[in-house]
Amino acid sequence: MKIAFFSAKPYDKTFFNRYNEAYGFELEFWETHLGPHIVNAITPGTEAVCVFVNDKLTGEVIDIMAAKGVKIIALRCAGFNNVDLERAKKQGIRICRVPAYSPEAVAEHAVAMLLTLNRKTHKAYNRVREQNFSLNGLLGFNLYGRTTGVIGTGKIGKAFIKIMLGFGCKVLACDLYEDETLKAEGVQYLSFDEVLNQSDILSLHCPLNAENHYLINESSIVKTKKGVTIINTSRGGLLNTHDVIQALKSGHIAYLGIDVYEQEEQLFFKDLSGSIIANDEIQRLMSFPNVLVTGHQAFFTEEALSQIATITLNSIDHLIKGSAPADPSVLLV
Ligand code: NAI
Repeated sequence: MKIAFFSAKPYDKTFFNRYNEAYGFELEFWETHLGPHIVNAITPGTEAVCVFVNDKLTGEVIDIMAAKGVKIIALRCAGFNNVDLERAKKQGIRICRVPAYSPEAVAEHAVAMLLTLNRKTHKAYNRVREQNFSLNGLLGFNLYGRTTGVIGTGKIGKAFIKIMLGFGCKVLACDLYEDETLKAEGVQYLSFDEVLNQSDILSLHCPLNAENHYLINESSIVKTKKGVTIINTSRGGLLNTHDVIQALKSGHIAYLGIDVYEQEEQLFFKDLSGSIIANDEIQRLMSFPNVLVTGHQAFFTEEALSQIATITLNSIDHLIKGSAPADPSVLLV
């Protein structure tokens, strides 16, 4: 039983090789992303293909994979907007994914970004290495007593809220559904506008869809408090980058932390240190002293990668044997 991995990074190899010891599948790792340019190179005997967020599984790619005998597409991520599900169904290819790997990993990264920005530890780190122990310019603010607004109180939003309650923050939330356990812990559900109005810190934890594209734009930013801190570990398309840059320039947004960027496909997960970056907006964002950008690393912990590898291999094992995985939400087709 052979599995071909696309967009494979060294850490994918480490974790999948480790957990594959229990299964003994033959693993083949390709660094390139999957798309029409490479699909013909899939070697005979490959029964499963394991892909990530930027692999392109179009109808054409799926047809070729089916002709080559591929029976399973395993997404080692939660989202599936890059896969033609209908074509896979038509071709009799089963698709599994990892619906949740570690909400705490993402929530903790959001908090790490917030603490870096409010206490300027990234600046302090560089400064003391130059033997500069001056405190000028490092003035921060307490999280204790601040109002934090959380947009989206699903798995990650909830994990984030628990941490913020621990800091002694007042937590306001906005979601399509209210979570009774969070309400019992003192979280107050309000409308989106009310949360914007009253929050010192805003953290986005809802998925991106057609209705909330550019949720944070010029007209919503004016409803936020002057001096607001915004953290986005969810999806880049939730922020209108142009409008956010204007609000940073005017000083309305005091701090911004982003782990996701609307045009991240061309940039993230790559070492571009020797390249000229043509994208002016990300360059402008990175030039602000009060903006922190990380390259979609919020999920990137030992625990999350272990979960991704074990859930993926377990689902493939079930599908190949014709049995159902214990968690039905892993199956898309
Ligand atoms: P989830 O499905 O458990 O929760 C999402 C919540 O958002 C739900 O309660 C839903 O009702 C709510 N929601 C949907 N639209 C909304 C709107 N317009 N306004 C307010 N609430 C809304 O999802 P989970 O696991 O908490 O993940 C949230 C997002 O985090 C994912 O969609 C993904 O975009 C992002 N993510 C980022 C990662 C990273 O490494 N940076 C890793 C994993 C997920």
